[in-house]
Amino acid sequence: MRQHVCVTSTDDVYTGALDRAHEHVRSWLAGMADRRVPPEADTDMLRARLSGPLPDGPTDPAEVVDLLAGAVEPGLMAMPSGRFFGWVIGGTLPAALAADWLTSAWDQNSGMRYATPGTVAVEEVAAEWVLDLLGLPAGADLGFVTGATMANFTGLAAARQQVLTDAGWDLNRLGLTGAPRVRVLVGAERHDTVDLALRYLGLGEPTAVPADDQGRIRLDALGAALAAGSGPTVVCLQAGNVHSGAFDPLGAAAALAHEHGAWVHVDGAFGLWAAASPRLRHLVAGHETADSWATDAHKTLNVPYDCGIAVVARPGAVRDAMGVHASYLVHDEGPGDPFDRVPELSRRARGVPVWAALRQLGRTGVADLVDRLARHARAIADGIASVAGAEVLNDVVFTQVCAAFGADGRTRDVTARLIADGTTWMSGSRWRDRDVLRVSVSNWSTDDADVEASVAAVRRASQRS
Ligand SMILES: Cc1ncc(COP(=O)(O)O)c(C=O)c1O
Repeated sequence: MRQHVCVTSTDDVYTGALDRAHEHVRSWLAGMADRRVPPEADTDMLRARLSGPLPDGPTDPAEVVDLLAGAVEPGLMAMPSGRFFGWVIGGTLPAALAADWLTSAWDQNSGMRYATPGTVAVEEVAAEWVLDLLGLPAGADLGFVTGATMANFTGLAAARQQVLTDAGWDLNRLGLTGAPRVRVLVGAERHDTVDLALRYLGLGEPTAVPADDQGRIRLDALGAALAAGSGPTVVCLQAGNVHSGAFDPLGAAAALAHEHGAWVHVDGAFGLWAAASPRLRHLVAGHETADSWATDAHKTLNVPYDCGIAVVARPGAVRDAMGVHASYLVHDEGPGDPFDRVPELSRRARGVPVWAALRQLGRTGVADLVDRLARHARAIADGIASVAGAEVLNDVVFTQVCAAFGADGRTRDVTARLIADGTTWMSGSRWRDRDVLRVSVSNWSTDDADVEASVAAVRRASQRS
């Protein structure tokens, strides 16, 4: 039999492209200190630079990397900047970024314990650390998904499975057609992705329970809503309102829901990390009594996109909902496989950067990170409140700030001028019937100087009207 002889080692094949990528990454990150935050080019301009017919022949890999980085960079938003406060978007800790590179290079399809013991072991340790830091039950099932949307989907799928099983309905055999109706109660200010997850699950529109002036679900209203119906019930609570940062009264609401036999799911995309801070832990009091939780690692924990975390206290429910059995797979007879806890069969080992972030920070480092984000949010709120005509609308208890500058039109003008200025990025939104400037402090690298420069930019934007 003729042996295939490799004239170039695999290492040589990759080296040029990886070296170029490393150089581009270093220059991108080095530019963060003084780069304007908004992109300089829009999608249409960039498409014009990148388009053209697909070449007939191959291109050298290093040249491909140069072409890509050179063309794209003007269209990149400086999301890793300490002056970026848009939506709820974290930066990337150094160990997490480097671990993400390793994850890509290792290219493990991290679904089976048997096949990829290295990355599965890392993810299992990361899972134990996350449960410990967030004060969640040690035996809970934890899966790494793409983000909180899919973490909500996973938790709510387990919820649907369990409440229908309890009602005597075999969901996996019979499907939803003809099943008892599942009531889903949500706070009036839940995140829209909860509704999306419910659509994926065929559960339809949830019943919205009135919220208070900070967006927290009202216990009296929740009690009344629970009492008004019966049958399989799921209550979805929130740890961290996207506008105010407020937390539902998790322990009391969960107790009320459990009295009515409901499953309790908590959407804690960014707020669940308050549990890791001794100073802020009171915000999530009682959260551990829920049945499932969704959070993100790509927000407060600052690992690269995309990484969400789904936790389910009762492993049977999530494995019934998500487990896959196929003869060509090698199933683990012990703790079970990662693919039993998430919607995907195949996936990257996205828990590896979580391990690296936690190992870099340690327990006190995670607490310091969470505290620092909240402290900067407070400082930004105080700074904005000192601007003539500005008003901070929320109680700043965590990482979110909402401000208005008089009438809606003026708030929109200030927001537009601020974005055009480019020093910082804060997004506009509408909250409690008012246009607002929204601030989310989610980046580990934000420091006092970033806060000062950003508040000064808000002041400038406000004075020019
Ligand atoms: C409270 C809350 N839930 C869910 C999500 C959705 O998270 P992701 O975009 O990671 O899917 C977000 C996003 O900001 C959020 O703030």
